[in-house]
Amino acid sequence: MDAMTFVLFGATGDLAKRKIFPAIYNLYVDRKLPESFQLIGLGRRKLSEDEFRGQVAQSLRAFSRRTTSDEATVRDFLEHIGYTELNVNELSDYAKLASRIEEREQRFVLPENRVFYMSVAPELFGTIVANLQESGLSRVSGWKRLVIEKPFGHDLESARVLNASLAQAFEEKEIFRIDHYLGKPMVQNLEVLEYSNPVLQALWRNRYVANVQITAAETVGVETRAEYYDHSGAVRDMFQNHMLQMLMMLAMQLPKHSTAEEVGFKKRKVMEALRPLQQEGVEANIVRGQYTAGQIGGQQVAGYTEEPGVNPASTTDTYIAARLWIDDYFWSEVPFYIRTGKRLAGKSTRIVIEFKDPADKFSRTNEATAPNLLTIDIGPEAGMTFQLNMKNPLNGKIEPVQIHTAVDEKDIPEAYETLIADMMRGDATFFAHWDEVELAWQWVQPILNAFERNELPLHAYPAGSNGPEAADRLLEQDGFHWWHDEPQAKSQEERKLAETAGVQV
Ligand code: BG6
Repeated sequence: MDAMTFVLFGATGDLAKRKIFPAIYNLYVDRKLPESFQLIGLGRRKLSEDEFRGQVAQSLRAFSRRTTSDEATVRDFLEHIGYTELNVNELSDYAKLASRIEEREQRFVLPENRVFYMSVAPELFGTIVANLQESGLSRVSGWKRLVIEKPFGHDLESARVLNASLAQAFEEKEIFRIDHYLGKPMVQNLEVLEYSNPVLQALWRNRYVANVQITAAETVGVETRAEYYDHSGAVRDMFQNHMLQMLMMLAMQLPKHSTAEEVGFKKRKVMEALRPLQQEGVEANIVRGQYTAGQIGGQQVAGYTEEPGVNPASTTDTYIAARLWIDDYFWSEVPFYIRTGKRLAGKSTRIVIEFKDPADKFSRTNEATAPNLLTIDIGPEAGMTFQLNMKNPLNGKIEPVQIHTAVDEKDIPEAYETLIADMMRGDATFFAHWDEVELAWQWVQPILNAFERNELPLHAYPAGSNGPEAADRLLEQDGFHWWHDEPQAKSQEERKLAETAGVQV
């Protein structure tokens, strides 16, 4: 790996503490960082280098996957970390930063390879990039990379404006847009599953697939992020990015020997084939929900509009379900159902592929058979289950059996570790490219408009449930149902009560 300087904007923030420093530390322990590596943390606060290193050490102790019990390793790692106070609006601060970086590059005869990582509020992206350009920091004789976190824009228009401002200083191939779902091992495994198993590859198309279900269910509520979340909702927070990225990764058809560029190209093809939503389409294919008070893990929890910082009259979606169609050769006529929500009965992200079952019965004995299902668990367990039918040798009856494999997410590298290592190597395979982001906003825009104008019912669902019943009806209309829903925390009666007490717009 090339020697580089890693400049981290927002180095005292939450994301840096919880994800970025632990990820880089784990890469260090695994010897996956270049020999000559330096990270310069930037923040508004006045901190000595020692104070800052102390904070980093604390975050490693709290959040690192690997142990921090070896004091010497932690100390050595911290040697690579520095801190500079910087006001992002102040051009002269960038000049100071530039001299610091240049001085080190010259002293150790290092190439001018620079990573600029934006772990800051998205409103600041444009200003920072303009100042990087103005100060000369982004003019290098080596390579430069810009890493940005979501949200990438608030809608189609703002995303385009943002992209244009980044494009003034960075080429598309230098911009690494993190979508941490693309760093999850089972999302990365989708292409391996399909292309290293001729059996699955043969079945991965409309002739054999009845429907596909993609779920990201969370038990957490809005937590301390009300200010951000109340202006975003599930559609912007999860659907436009993570959910559509999972759809692309599942539905793309790759050539035999594919490169990062081809992966980007094929993902774009999926988005281009996605049937656009007309206004009537939004009503027929989208379900919007918001959680009311309920029980999670035996604990009573507040409804969304009672959460601190949330507008009591908020109509923000904490749940969204959608039916989508990919009108291409491989997937036409196969419904894709996608749903995500907060305060649901269990935490799980999974993809279920339900295969067609032309007979429904084993003809000689007339016994009903279950459909074949391929369930890909993305988190918190990473694994998969294949459901087949077999005669039970004990009772002679045909029954579904499951072939299952899984590991706990805790035992495998975190998405941030994988993604940061890829970015350092310059491999953009598992990053969101501009075309995909733009097409995703374009597809979602009619939904944003309909939500904004309150044209869709806001279905209340009690915390601890599997979401609004309207999302079940979406599948029932096509003769399907959601697979693997969690046992409900509430009785039907309590559910009805909560729904009548809840919002209906
Ligand atoms: C983030 C969202 O991108 O993803 C959060 O902003 C959400 O609201 C989180 O909780 C879910 O990620 P994971 O990895 O826990 O499924």
